[in-house]
Amino acid sequence: MDDGSSIFRKAMTSWWKTLKNRYTYYQWQKAFQIKKHLQNIENIFHDVNGFELSYLEKKDHPNLSLTYGEIHLESFLALLSLAKPRPEHVFYDLGSGVGKTVFAASMVYGFQKAYGIETLKNLNSIARNKQKKHARDLNMEFIQQDVQQVDWHDAHILFMNVASFVSDTWEALSKKLCEKPAPIIITCSKPLNNQKFSIHETKVLCSWGIVPAFIHTIKIT
Ligand SMILES: C[S@@+](CC[C@H](N)C(=O)[O-])C[C@H]1O[C@@H](n2cnc3c(N)ncnc32)[C@H](O)[C@@H]1O
Repeated sequence: MDDGSSIFRKAMTSWWKTLKNRYTYYQWQKAFQIKKHLQNIENIFHDVNGFELSYLEKKDHPNLSLTYGEIHLESFLALLSLAKPRPEHVFYDLGSGVGKTVFAASMVYGFQKAYGIETLKNLNSIARNKQKKHARDLNMEFIQQDVQQVDWHDAHILFMNVASFVSDTWEALSKKLCEKPAPIIITCSKPLNNQKFSIHETKVLCSWGIVPAFIHTIKIT
């Protein structure tokens, strides 16, 4: 049974941990000017509703696999920071929607190149137009393509919010990811099922709730 002093010690340790985490969070926010960049993205995309655009494009041929959703951008940037991103890295979002994640990744971590791959034409066009109008200086490319067709040989970090991928797409894609892995693969919702990866599990906030996120790195044997 706990005596008074051990309860006090536990309370102090948890209080200290919370304080330390909060301090690390503020330091991270300040170092990467997170608030400024998020405000910038909000201004750029203030007139865009990805949910509606996606719905309108699929209206005549509904496809459950293309269900739209967005990751909360600060949560996404914090997740990405766990992968230790560097300016010389090349980043891909497979299933990039209107491209907010690609803008955020590029602005904050200054990637050599950031790609957004999206199958829906309207969503991809929005991303391209926003880049042309607001971010010509960022090295981003938005490609309308099926994720299974992507050649990611130059990728250092692959990100995918896979909740909307149907099982066929996910199975084919995970097979390809295991055969031709990038150094870091980040998935939200589901992990890759393969022994060659070490997996760090965490949680992120998405428009449909809190979901598990997985950072895969290849095991060095
Ligand atoms: C859940 S949304 C994620 C959007 C963004 N990456 C984010 O996390 O905020 C998934 C996106 O993947 C796209 N998508 C689904 N299947 C795809 C496929 N086979 N090829 C390319 N894009 C796909 C959907 O149209 C949708 O825009």
